[in-house]
Amino acid sequence: NAKFFAALKLHEVCIEFNIIRMLFLSVIIALSSFLPQAPVGPFPMVPEDQAKNSKWTEAILNTWMRISEVLYQRSLSSMVLSEENIRKVVKSRVCSMAIHPSESTILVAAGDVYGHVGLWNEGAHIFLPHNFQVNCMHFSPCNPAHLLSLSKDTLRCGDVTRAVFDEICRSEEDYSCFDFLEENASTTIMSHWDGHVAVVDRRTPRTSSELSADIGFKRTRTVHVHPVKKQYFMAAGSLDVCVFDIRYLKAKGNKPVSTLVGHKKSVASAYFSPVTGSRVVTVCADDKLRVYDTTSLSSTVTLLSTIRHNSNTGRWLSRFRAVWDPKQEHCFLVGSLAQPRKIQVFQDTGKLLHSFYNTVCLTSVCSINVVHPSQNILVGGNSSGRLHVFK
Ligand SMILES: *[C@@H]1O[C@H](CO)[C@@H](O)[C@H](O)[C@H]1NC(C)=O
Ligand SMILES: *[C@@H]1O[C@H](CO)[C@@H](O)[C@H](O)[C@H]1NC(C)=O
Repeated sequence: NAKFFAALKLHEVCIEFNIIRMLFLSVIIALSSFLPQAPVGPFPMVPEDQAKNSKWTEAILNTWMRISEVLYQRSLSSMVLSEENIRKVVKSRVCSMAIHPSESTILVAAGDVYGHVGLWNEGAHIFLPHNFQVNCMHFSPCNPAHLLSLSKDTLRCGDVTRAVFDEICRSEEDYSCFDFLEENASTTIMSHWDGHVAVVDRRTPRTSSELSADIGFKRTRTVHVHPVKKQYFMAAGSLDVCVFDIRYLKAKGNKPVSTLVGHKKSVASAYFSPVTGSRVVTVCADDKLRVYDTTSLSSTVTLLSTIRHNSNTGRWLSRFRAVWDPKQEHCFLVGSLAQPRKIQVFQDTGKLLHSFYNTVCLTSVCSINVVHPSQNILVGGNSSGRLHVFK
């Protein structure tokens, strides 16, 4: 009996305890509905008791930023160039490059001024799929067995599974650049030196374009599709850098969605940042690199920073193109005419983060550079077909 009463007592205590716990919880829940709520959407990093600790918050945020930067800088410093990672891969001036996304093996493709495409893994092998300068190359984003290469009269797709360079499209008017409109690479946007752009669908059997559009440019040198909002593409030419909406593209009378103003001379390249597309970096012959804030694509976008950069490559070197590090939303790389020869890495704020150089091995200007999408690998190409791999 005593045992029974003890158990009963314990049971009562437990029930009481549970009631108290429930009361306590409901008080907490009631209280929490009076507490400030976090809003939906982006929200500035301002601490709750703003006034009291703003200095300390600033300090911790600065530290966080600095240590993150240091990590990135350390990964850049770990990438070095050595003699065995320099190789002549094409016969002449490198005009474009692409790197295979493989994480275990480095395979680089380079295109030169005479239409050669060189592949470099262990040794280098040269093909001649074009008759003119290879302006632009990409491995297909959905099938890395395909290498697309563009010269002034053709876009080809090198398909390694069939060992053929297929012809995707051909034109009388000179092509300058292309990009994929969709992740599955079935449609591309093409730019022409005379300024107009064209849409090509690979699924149609003919080799002409679906749509040809006058965008009002005297010259279009590069096109680049927004990484997220795939309906937008950037075109850059003589003085013009504009964003257009592919859905409203028509033969004539196209109006840009946004204009990136300020360029005083011809523009060599304009690319969206790789993850969100909220930045654009341009290279201009007025000796400036410009970074724009394209977070919202209003009619004119804000210029974030301007960097002085000698872009006077002359007629024997390819023009510089500033390319984003695909792994870093806010950092881009560009070759340099300065001595010692180097490839520089800048933050979108204009801050110089790192310079790749090697006074023994890197003795020439690398105008065209490509960065691996997931590994710490950078390849720079020079004007005699020589590639330099920093890794
Ligand atoms: C590619 O993607 C587009 C848009 O997402 C879609 O309409 C098209 O059918 C796709 N093509 C293939 C071959 O999967
Ligand atoms: C390209 O690089 C190689 C090796 O670094 C060098 O020997 C060659 O002179 C360079 N070409 C030019 C045009 O600077």
